[in-house]
Amino acid sequence: MVNIGIFASGSGSNFENLVLALEDGRGEGYSVKFLFSDKKNAFALERAKKLGIENICIELKDCLNKEEYEKRILKKLEEENIELIVLAGYMKIISSTLLKKYENRIINIHPSYLPNYQGKDAIKRAFLEKNKETGVTIHFVDKGVDTGSIIYQEKLNIENIQTLEEIENKIHQLEYEIYPKVLTRLCQGEIK
Ligand code: GRF
Repeated sequence: MVNIGIFASGSGSNFENLVLALEDGRGEGYSVKFLFSDKKNAFALERAKKLGIENICIELKDCLNKEEYEKRILKKLEEENIELIVLAGYMKIISSTLLKKYENRIINIHPSYLPNYQGKDAIKRAFLEKNKETGVTIHFVDKGVDTGSIIYQEKLNIENIQTLEEIENKIHQLEYEIYPKVLTRLCQGEIK
C-alpha cells in the first residue's frame, strides 16, 4: 500500500474521485492519508471533511516565504510517511524544498494533451482556438510548469462541441476515468 497525500487548491472533484475509486473498486494499492490545500476556502477541504479524510491547510501568506511554507508541508508529509504526492488542481509551483525530497514522487493531472496548453486555462485556450482536439495528461512534476515526463495521456475530440462548459465536462469525465487507473498502476509498480 502506497501512502499518498493529495494537494488541491479548488473544488477537489478529482481528489474526491480518487477516494471514491478506492471504495468502488476503480482504484487500489494506495491509501489517501490527507488532503492538503493552500487555500482556506477551497471546497476540497469540505469534501475531505465529508469523506472523513484528514484535511490540512497552510497558506503561503502565513509563512515567511515559499521555503518555510514548503518546509511546513514537508513536516506533515514526513509525519504521515507520505510516499507519493498527488496533485489535483494544486495551483502553486512546487519549489526545490519539496522537489528535492520527492524527486519523481510527485504527479499531476493536466487538462490538455501536453505539451500543448501548458499552464493556466488550458481547456479555455483549446476552446477559443477552435482546436479539433485536446486531452488529459498525467505526468511527473519537475521544476517547470507542466513540463515533467509524461506517464499517460489521452486525446479528446472536441470538433463538434459547441460550448466551453461541455468541453470542461468531457475533460473532467476523462480525468475521473484515468487518474485512479494510472495511480493504481503506478502504486502497483506497473509504471516506473
Ligand atoms: C482539473 O481539471 C485538473 O486537470 C487541473 O485542475 C482541475 C482540478 O479540478 N489540474 P478539481 O479541483 O479536481 O475539480
